[in-house]
Amino acid sequence: MDSRELFDALTHKSRQALTGGGEERIAKQHAEGKLTARERIDQLMDKDSFIEMDRFKTHRCNDFGMEKSKILGDGVITGYGLVHGRQIFVYAQDFTVFGGSLSLSHSEKICKVMDTAMRVGAPVVGLCDSGGARIQEGVMSLAGYADIFLRNVMASGVIPQITAIMGPSAGGAVYSPALTDWIFMVEKTSHMFITGPDVIKAVTRESVTKEALGGAMTHNSVSGVAHFSEENDDVCLGRIRELLRFLPRNNMEIPPCMETTDDPMRRDLSLREIVPTDPNKPYDIRDIIWSNLDDRNFFEAHAHYAKNIVVGFGHMNGMAVGIVANQPNVMAGCLDIDASLKGARFIRFCDAFNIPLVVYEDVPGFLPGTHQENGGIIKHGAKLIYAFCEATVPRITIITRKAYGGAYCVMNSRHIRGDMVLAYPAAEIAVMGAEGAVNIISREEIKNAVDPEARRKQLVEAYREKFANPYKAAEMGYIDDVIDPADTRPRIIRALEMLKTKRDTNPPKKHGNIPL
Ligand code: HXC
Repeated sequence: MDSRELFDALTHKSRQALTGGGEERIAKQHAEGKLTARERIDQLMDKDSFIEMDRFKTHRCNDFGMEKSKILGDGVITGYGLVHGRQIFVYAQDFTVFGGSLSLSHSEKICKVMDTAMRVGAPVVGLCDSGGARIQEGVMSLAGYADIFLRNVMASGVIPQITAIMGPSAGGAVYSPALTDWIFMVEKTSHMFITGPDVIKAVTRESVTKEALGGAMTHNSVSGVAHFSEENDDVCLGRIRELLRFLPRNNMEIPPCMETTDDPMRRDLSLREIVPTDPNKPYDIRDIIWSNLDDRNFFEAHAHYAKNIVVGFGHMNGMAVGIVANQPNVMAGCLDIDASLKGARFIRFCDAFNIPLVVYEDVPGFLPGTHQENGGIIKHGAKLIYAFCEATVPRITIITRKAYGGAYCVMNSRHIRGDMVLAYPAAEIAVMGAEGAVNIISREEIKNAVDPEARRKQLVEAYREKFANPYKAAEMGYIDDVIDPADTRPRIIRALEMLKTKRDTNPPKKHGNIPL
């Protein structure tokens, strides 16, 4: 072949690689409201920055007539490119090729991307749209999944791993996404389950729809498996780009600093009015979170799950921060099993990737009740303590109102290595609320009083004056200062700047034993 013929052959092959499973299947994909794998990558990456790897790779299966059916790329597009000018690696399963099912070759392509990402220290984004294990390949496909699982675990805490479920994800295949840091799902078109509705019907006779079993909202609000539910592919890919703005490329770096015109010394007088003076009145903690972030931009994560705790990212004077906040608007901000799991996982992610933590605390305690006790609130609540205790990133707490009981200790107190604890003047730091405390310690006195109700009120007032304020804790040095709420943003930013050079370590060990 001369050079012209060689070039023509390459062009022909390249065109083949671009067409995936063919026009008809692409049209079907579009008709279902889904983008193709290539379109998804184009949306995710900065314009023209994607470089494909292994585009000519095919499967090696010779059973069930598969030897006659080889499609370049074998159902997954892999490579690297830029998001906001920073390197990431990507794999996107192509449902138009054998239903995006995973063969050994398909898995080798994913593993190569993951291995390279680990060597260079860059995030991996997986866009899943797959019928699961390639049935024709049997155990070779299962081996491929296991190879990926191992890499997911080895990469955990080293490079950020993000998965978007953009079609089916069934069977053991769900465990690769589950091992990554963040799962996005697309409403209506994505489903995740270990066994689908048909198998469930056959085994347990239970009838359930795909949506109720493993749709985006089910996993975002009920199981907590997924962290984001997005309207369509476009929005989902845009949100992944947004998330990447807060993350470093790997655990040896700090997150990128973002330019901002928002004044770091900006005060907000409205913050004086947000927390009601009545300790039993709810308010939305997000009003405080937003106000203090650069451009009031809060990227909330896991928003539909355990709404009694709020987590997410923002920037403060350009520095990325992870926010963890009790939400008085939901269950009075009590900590329960789900909130503990949500909070602990988020804290560990931020700690692994050098993202400082800003904690807003207004918590009456752990949620009482048999449901919680029998469900293991003791071991799950312990996860939250564990996560805070072992975190070595800068950690700042703002007590906006209640810091009661065990929850005072848990929510990033100084005692567990919180670096800076600030309280609003209306903060109440006590073993429990005034009403509860008086009913226990003064039961006899109230019972024997001439007017028990009047005496009870008197005692509650006296208790509140003595304990339900921040000054005793400040006297002890357990909190560093009582601040004007209007100064929250400047005070957090000053603390973050002071803590920039913080160095802290944990004792050397193989790994701890977090109460799983
Ligand atoms: C090979 C597959 C496939 C698979 C789909 N296809 N799944 N080929 N292996 N697992 C092919 C179909 O034959 C079809 O080929 C094309 O992909 C599109 O599939 P359709 O069924 O036409 O699409 P749709 O109606 O949209 O249904 C999609 C689906 C369904 C719900 C995903 O295909 C399905 O149920 N697939 C099997 C799912 C499954 O049980 N997988 C194994 C899970 S167990 P043509 O040529 O007609 O276009 C597992 C174990 C992993 O994954 C263990 C890891 C530890």
